[in-house]
Amino acid sequence: MYIIAVTGYKGGVGKTISSIHIARFLSSYGRVLIIDSDPNRSVEKWVGRSESPPPFKVKNEKSAPAHIAGNDFLVLDTPARPDSSELKEISQEAKLTILPCVPDAISLDPMLQMFHDLSNGANYRVLISIAPPYPSKSADELRQVLEENKIEVFKGQIRRSSSIVKAIDLGVTVAEMSGRDRIPWQDYQAIGKEILEAINYGKA
Ligand SMILES: Nc1ncnc2c1ncn2[C@@H]1O[C@H](COP(=O)(O)OP(=O)(O)OP(=O)(O)O)[C@@H](O)[C@H]1O
Ligand SMILES: [Mg+2]
Repeated sequence: MYIIAVTGYKGGVGKTISSIHIARFLSSYGRVLIIDSDPNRSVEKWVGRSESPPPFKVKNEKSAPAHIAGNDFLVLDTPARPDSSELKEISQEAKLTILPCVPDAISLDPMLQMFHDLSNGANYRVLISIAPPYPSKSADELRQVLEENKIEVFKGQIRRSSSIVKAIDLGVTVAEMSGRDRIPWQDYQAIGKEILEAINYGKA
């Protein structure tokens, strides 16, 4: 079973939305359980809005233990501001720790602090999310700073898109949207493939 944690110190950076889309992607590869450990229960509320159940299970951290066995992937959505010992523990247990980060100068400091708090040898990747469109250079600038600091970052990134917000409001993912609204699914598919590589999926 592969544990994939989506976490970080900053709120509102797309942890929950990314968790849902990553779970959706991984559901093509095996049985997936999202553990919603946010006291706001954002993922459970999302499921509550959907007309048909998603292709993965959603449990909160209290009800999850009885549902863990038999899954291939666990996706852990955490609330903002885990303390540093929690972050260390999460990144130690997870096969991959995903750290969403939005391209704004303000989020950079807690971001850089976060890398000191990861467990030694943690397998992690920064996910640049809510990236503004061209001609903004802010996502490229963030990527450059991260790379200069020798921080692992996904090659792909998640664009800022009203379709993503629309899908989440409807209790679905962008994979279930049609026409132009489905375009951002490409971003998650590219990240999903990088995740499979990062966890050595299917390799002994
Ligand atoms: N790709 C995107 N494009 C546009 N808006 C987005 C995108 N991703 C997230 N958002 C916006 O950011 C908000 C926060 O997203 P999300 O709930 O996933 O963040 P979070 O990191 O889980 O927040 P919290 O720390 O509160 O749990 C969403 O409600 C949505 O409005
Ligand atoms: Mg959240």
